[in-house]
Amino acid sequence: MPVNDYYHTNAQGHLTIGGVDALALTQKYQTPLVVYDVAQIRQQFQALQHAFEQQQLDYEISYASKAFASVAMYQVIKQLHGHIDVVSGGELYTALKACFPCQKISFHGNNKTKAELLLAVKNRVGVIILDNFYEIELLKQVLAETGSQVQVMLRITPGVSAHTHEYDQTGQEDSKFGFDVKSGQAEQAFLQVQTSEQMELIGLHAHIGSQILETTGFELEVEKLMRLIHEWAQKYGYQPQVLNLGGGFGIRYTAADKVLPLETYVSQIATAVRKWAKKYGLAVPAIWVEPGRSIVGAAGYSLYTVGSRKDVPGLLPYVAVDGGMGDNIRPALYQAEYEALLARDPAAKSSETVHLAGRYCESGDLLIKKLPLPVTKPGDVIAMLSTGAYGYSMASNYNRVPRPAVVFAEDGQAQEVVTRETYEDLVSHDRFYQEK
Ligand SMILES: Cc1ncc(COP(=O)(O)O)c(C=O)c1O
Repeated sequence: MPVNDYYHTNAQGHLTIGGVDALALTQKYQTPLVVYDVAQIRQQFQALQHAFEQQQLDYEISYASKAFASVAMYQVIKQLHGHIDVVSGGELYTALKACFPCQKISFHGNNKTKAELLLAVKNRVGVIILDNFYEIELLKQVLAETGSQVQVMLRITPGVSAHTHEYDQTGQEDSKFGFDVKSGQAEQAFLQVQTSEQMELIGLHAHIGSQILETTGFELEVEKLMRLIHEWAQKYGYQPQVLNLGGGFGIRYTAADKVLPLETYVSQIATAVRKWAKKYGLAVPAIWVEPGRSIVGAAGYSLYTVGSRKDVPGLLPYVAVDGGMGDNIRPALYQAEYEALLARDPAAKSSETVHLAGRYCESGDLLIKKLPLPVTKPGDVIAMLSTGAYGYSMASNYNRVPRPAVVFAEDGQAQEVVTRETYEDLVSHDRFYQEK
C-alpha cells in the first residue's frame, strides 16, 4: 500500500522495503542495518536503458560501483547486462568474485598502482581510463611486461563545474583528476597514447560532478568534448568510438531536491551530441554514462534503533541512534541532508523537532539536524531514506564499531548480502606487539 512515492507501508502501517516489513528485518538482522529495495535498483537501471533505446543511440550504462559495491550488487548489474566501473583493485577483485564479465569493466582512478594495473590487464578488463601521465607510462610498462593489448580512454577535465556541492565537483580545471584541455595536457596525453601499439584509444571520458539536478552542465560537457574531438579529427584524423560522460544524475534526498526524470538527462545529452556531431561533421559516437547515486541512492535505507536522548532547556533535543558517521559519513563530510521516519508508523504526525545524533565520539556526528519526528522512545526504529549511495561504501570502523549488515529485499523476500562485522573481525588484523 503506497503511502507516497518515497516509501511503502503494509497493513500494520509499518514501513516496508522491497515488500518486507522493516521491523521484521531489524528483528532478524539487528541494527544498524542497510537495506536495498532491489526492484528499485532494477527500475532505475532499466529506466536509463529505456531512455537510451528511445534515443536510438549506441550506449552503455556503466554503474559507478563506488556508490555501493558488493558481490550481490555486481550480480544484479550483470543480470541487467550493464557495465561497471571500478576504482581500485578491491572493487575489481569483488567484481571478479561475482564473476562479472571483465570486458564490461572500466577501471578508473587517479593513482592506480602497478599491481592494480597488472590485475586489470591480466584479467582483460574492457577499458582502462587513463588519468595522468604517470599512469600512461606505468601502463606502457605493464603492457610491455605482459605482452598485452588494452583499450583505453582519456579522462578529460573539460572545465565544466556543474551546479552542485563544492566537494562533489570533479570536472573543473583545478582538479586532481584527468587531463586539462586548456593547458594542452589533454592533447599531449592523446599523442603519448597514440605512440603505443598496445593501447587502443577508444574514446574520451569526463565527469563533471555529482547530485546534478539540471542538464546544462551535461550539455556544456558535450559541447566541450565534441569541440576537442573536432580539433583532434582535423589535426590527427581521430574519430572516437565512445564518449563517456561520467555520472552525476541527482536523486531526491529531501523535498528540496527537484529531481529530473532520467529520460530528461538522456534526451538533452542525445540532442547535444547530435547537434555538435552535425555541426562538426563527425560520426555520432556511442554514449556511455556512469551513474552511481541514481542507481542505488534512493533504493537504500538505513535502519537504526533509538537509544539515549538529551534534552537541554530552550534547545532542540538530541535523539541518538546506534549508527552514524561510521556507516554514513555524508552528513559530517558534506553537510548532506536526508529525511527519516519512524519505521513502525512512517505516516505519524511529527510532534517535535530533534537532532538525530549518531553514536560516534564526534560532535559533528549528527545524521540529521532539525528533523521533525513523533516523540520516540528507546527501541524505536528510525529509517533514514535514500542512503544507498556513498553510505555503506564509505563506512569505516571509527571508534572500532563493526560495520552493519546489508540486506537485499525484493518481492517480499530478504537476503543478507553482506554480513555484520563482529568484534572478532575488528581485531582479526591486529597483532600483538612483541615488547623487548
Ligand atoms: C568518474 C566518475 N564517474 C561516475 C561517478 C558516479 O557519480 P554519481 O554517483 O553521482 O552518479 C563518479 C563519482 O564520483 C565519478 O568520479
